[in-house]
Amino acid sequence: MARLNVNGVVREVDAEADTPLLWVLREQVGLTGTKYGCGIAQCGACTVHIDGAAVRACSMPLSAVGPGQKIVTIEGLAPGADHPVQKAWAELDVPQCGFCQPGMIMASAALLAQNPRPSEEQIRAEITNICRCGTYNRVLAGIKLAAERGQSG
Ligand code: FES
Ligand code: FES
Repeated sequence: MARLNVNGVVREVDAEADTPLLWVLREQVGLTGTKYGCGIAQCGACTVHIDGAAVRACSMPLSAVGPGQKIVTIEGLAPGADHPVQKAWAELDVPQCGFCQPGMIMASAALLAQNPRPSEEQIRAEITNICRCGTYNRVLAGIKLAAERGQSG
């Protein structure tokens, strides 16, 4: 058994210590917004925040999450899904199939929390998520729009 703080709620989970956090979130906590793409920390579809930092949950064993750490998934990013990144995404119709987008949004939100006005070079360097639909230009535009608007959205 382990206790996890997920989206502000403490949950008891029953999984082996080496179970990837992704599967604990999806199968035990029931939060399926975090996606499985590659399973080897390459694509970013499984990105969540741990204490505000973007983490690839497919490659983080449950045992690596400290008891006091705060996990945030796409479901808990903002009440009403109105984070500035989510608003910019909706305005610019960033997603295509959508599968990679929770991870894109979580990675982008973590970047802007750490660096509210990133340069295009910084965005390209930091957002390494893979999108099979090729939404990269709209992701870039969405991050720039969210950055311009700041936390007021
Ligand atoms: S599923 Fe985690 S990085 Fe691809
Ligand atoms: S929107 Fe389809 S994989 Fe990114």
